Amino acid sequence: MGERLKDRVAIVVGAGSSGPGWGNGKATAVTCAREGAKVFCVDRNVAAARETVDIIHKEGGIAEAHQADVVRDAEVAAMVAACLAKWQRIDVLDNNVGIGSTGGPVELPEQEWDNVFDVNVKSFYLTLKHVLPVMEKQGRGAIVNVSSIASIRSPKGIAYVAYNASKGAVNALTIAVASQYADKGIRCNAILPGLMHTPMIDFLAESYARDSKDHNSAYDRMIDIRNKVSPTGKMGTGWDTANAALFLASDDSAYVNGHLLVVDGGLTVRA
Ligand SMILES: NC(=O)c1ccc[n+]([C@@H]2O[C@H](COP(=O)([O-])OP(=O)(O)OC[C@H]3O[C@@H](n4cnc5c(N)ncnc54)[C@H](O)[C@@H]3O)[C@@H](O)[C@H]2O)c1
Repeated sequence: MGERLKDRVAIVVGAGSSGPGWGNGKATAVTCAREGAKVFCVDRNVAAARETVDIIHKEGGIAEAHQADVVRDAEVAAMVAACLAKWQRIDVLDNNVGIGSTGGPVELPEQEWDNVFDVNVKSFYLTLKHVLPVMEKQGRGAIVNVSSIASIRSPKGIAYVAYNASKGAVNALTIAVASQYADKGIRCNAILPGLMHTPMIDFLAESYARDSKDHNSAYDRMIDIRNKVSPTGKMGTGWDTANAALFLASDDSAYVNGHLLVVDGGLTVRA
């Protein structure tokens, strides 16, 4: 156990993962607990949040599971109230929920555009709306928003315009909040993960492979392509995102504010 978040209360939103293994939020929740934080693990899939909490408890850490769909204002308000009732403060907010979607403006149904923006952007606005007043009263807080390199890069041949645009909005939201709250002891930064091997990716690879005659090789092909595209020859993991989140959540980054931290093994700088 470390002490970089000793006695701090951290809300991790999207603290479960969408399948077996380590998603970005699940790894972040466990990492925060290992550094001494009390972790409020929020997910709309409460079984997934409980799984994360069980891991933390088994390691001797402190955590609580809470169910909320963070696209709904009343559920976010209840989430914040429940965390305050339990631990009386909120030092860290890690906004990690996000969904993918493929298609350009012509192919993408309007409803899907709205859904991606609800989950990827509105949820962040709502958690900020309810957590910022608490942090302002405390005079301290660190916010970590999980964006994506999809906000600054769009590879040839793959259209996911709603995802690109929603993550771009997360970057702009991060910068605006960092600027507005800088003199109130509150920092707001974003992480831009690259190609990470999380359960969400296994789920996507599975769904692409489902229609293929040779299921296993279609799955392996997608994983193989993502590994090869990564400059290191391997995708990153939820732990790479978690370690960046720990840096931005802790006092190690006390003078880092409004920063968009790329965690991609060098993918975006490769010509
Ligand atoms: N995996 C990657 O390669 C990658 C790359 C860049 C950015 N990201 C971003 O990282 C974040 C997490 O990705 P992951 O791969 O760990 O995903 P994941 O699906 O494994 O985890 C996300 C969790 O959020 C929860 N969630 C989704 N919508 C919710 C809602 N409305 N309310 C409450 N909980 C909700 C899900 O139930 C799930 O447990 C996302 O924002 C994603 O866009 C991922």
